[in-house]
Amino acid sequence: MYVCVCHAVTDRQIREAAQGGARTLKDLRRDLGVTRECGRCASCAHECLQEAHGCAKQQGHKKALAA
Ligand code: FES
Repeated sequence: MYVCVCHAVTDRQIREAAQGGARTLKDLRRDLGVTRECGRCASCAHECLQEAHGCAKQQGHKKALAA
């Protein structure tokens, strides 16, 4: 799936960047070019990065435990 249409960046590329050490949106911007044009990809790119690091699952798990 394309995350950043302006730079044709896919979720797969974001996962690979995460495996290669990208930790922040700024890292993705530097490495892949996401958010450099219109910026509409920022939230989706951030979500993909979190998922790649397992953060989204952990946050969801914490929410489930808090409920
Ligand atoms: S969609 Fe990523 S900069 Fe436009």
